[in-house]
Amino acid sequence: MSDITTDVLVIGTGPAGAATAALLSSYGVENMAINRYRWLANTPRAHITNQRTMEVLRDLGRDVENEAYMFATHQDLMGENVFCESLAGEEIGRMTAWGNNPLSQAEHKLSSPTQMNDLPQTFMEPLLFKTACQRGTQARMSTEYLSHEQDADGVTTTCLDRLSGKEFTIRSKYLVGADGGKSLVAEHLDLPFDGQMAVGGSMNIVFRADLAKYVAHRPSVLYWVMQPGADVGGIGMGLVRMVRPWNEWLIVWGYDINEPAPEVDDELATRVARQLVGDPDLEIELLSANTWTVNNFYATKTAKGRVFCMGDAIHRHPPSNGLGSNTSIQDAFNLAWKLAMVLKGQAGERLLDSYDAERAPIAKQIVTRANKSITETKPIFDALGMSEGVRPEVMQQNLEARSDATPEAERQREAIRQAIAFKKYEFDAHGVEMNQRYRSDAVLPEDQPEPPFQKDAELHYQPTTWPGARLPHAWVYRHDTGAAVSTLDLCGHGVFSLLTGIGGEAWQDAARAVGDDLGVTVQVHVIGPRRDHVDHTGDWARIREITDSGCLLVRPDHHVAWRRERMVDDPQGQLATAMKAILDR
Ligand code: FDA
Repeated sequence: MSDITTDVLVIGTGPAGAATAALLSSYGVENMAINRYRWLANTPRAHITNQRTMEVLRDLGRDVENEAYMFATHQDLMGENVFCESLAGEEIGRMTAWGNNPLSQAEHKLSSPTQMNDLPQTFMEPLLFKTACQRGTQARMSTEYLSHEQDADGVTTTCLDRLSGKEFTIRSKYLVGADGGKSLVAEHLDLPFDGQMAVGGSMNIVFRADLAKYVAHRPSVLYWVMQPGADVGGIGMGLVRMVRPWNEWLIVWGYDINEPAPEVDDELATRVARQLVGDPDLEIELLSANTWTVNNFYATKTAKGRVFCMGDAIHRHPPSNGLGSNTSIQDAFNLAWKLAMVLKGQAGERLLDSYDAERAPIAKQIVTRANKSITETKPIFDALGMSEGVRPEVMQQNLEARSDATPEAERQREAIRQAIAFKKYEFDAHGVEMNQRYRSDAVLPEDQPEPPFQKDAELHYQPTTWPGARLPHAWVYRHDTGAAVSTLDLCGHGVFSLLTGIGGEAWQDAARAVGDDLGVTVQVHVIGPRRDHVDHTGDWARIREITDSGCLLVRPDHHVAWRRERMVDDPQGQLATAMKAILDR
């Protein structure tokens, strides 16, 4: 007999685990979350928060979304991505990043009701964790996962109470391994991985210092510094990252992975900070320092039986592109509603297989992208003649030569411009963030061909209602108050939704009947004149890819599950068949 029982046990309260717990509690599922430490993230770590993650927070509630904005550095202070010889030294160039280029900004605004922002993990984790606990999660800190065993009915997990030193067991129907990049749960499950751990060495130095005079006129999250050693380990170049504008910072500086990791003491931290800032007298208040490795490693299978892994447990990669915590929270959004529906008897267990089918390809995609972004910094070194490593005297000569009125200097200026502009694949890759299309038994594209991408799929989000894709956002307007509401707001919150238009009212009856029959809520929204929501601008009609009488069936995680272009002869029969297939009923 186990000491404690719950429906879902979550190991870890990082972005993945805390988001899973918050979503499960919001869906009314009994859950418990444990963390081996007494509190949450103690360093800022992940920070770039993309629109898709903000949509998850918005789905948790406008209070959660608004609190994130309240603590975040807003998008307009994120974008002047500078490359320089030091903060005080010469600027080599910059690219406007994170949706701040006016064209990119328009694409961001058109694709989501939310805004990208910079929210350090020290703010994100408490927000998610608080939401989880407020809504019902039983959280146990200083509690360490040791092992688990699963059988036909559930999982028995052995934990260590680190305060008393005593071991105890927790019996749950499902177990979620959100225990980070050294996941014991993934190891005990023997999940298969591709790639390599520890391909580069890096250190984080977190400090306070007022650097406003170097940066406030070119506000950015990231300042990239080219100096001797900047191409060794690390993430492409030396980095001074804003944590709080403009007095709290995190430096990322590499070390040779073939050497032992350096001891980052006060002296080394201060030396590196002075060097990258370019001020030999800079005084810093060191907050923390640690070393970490650049990984290129992803699980090709993410779950076994009743145990699911997510977050860094299944995708281990450098912070390039800012995908770590974002993808972890999005993993949670994919799994939580499926667990909820299976636990409530609304879906068969095979629905859970779609988690691996849908998220394992994303793990591979983002790990590959993040590591590729590191290598794509090299052309900047090449353009400045630094291919063989940064030598200060050569760099000075090249920086001086680039202001000459000679054909060589003009070629060099062009090469630098192109090399920096190409970094948009790391710093403005909206498509990587928003174009996730799922293929699994929980989406039914049937014989409808997948729409090809019209533009570069890594850079540009392309809205489509092709089943598997995320529901496109458009503003529609409440008939009664005139308030603007996103199409995404009409969906989610743990239930299926069906969007239709005038002439599609028969879907309403069909959804009610099918919902009653299966014991599942399918909320229906008819969008059109004199209906609850009106498409005054026509924006929704232009992107929905169905006619007024057609319908889109949308899963709780905003992904389109099934669609009909127009009204059919037997809406109830067709909807019932689709819902049963999706829910394994
Ligand atoms: P995460 O590691 O955040 O959380 C794991 C949780 O599991 C923690 O609560 C931990 O205590 C718990 N746990 C682990 N083992 C346990 C056990 N046996 N029993 C109980 N609990 C256990 N990303 C980025 O985008 N930009 C960045 O700059 C950085 N920088 C950075 C620096 C450092 C030092 C690290 C370690 C990581 C980063 N990252 C990053 C990555 C980013 O922080 C990461 O992608 C997310 O935190 C992943 O979230 P998870 O919830 O999956 O794991």
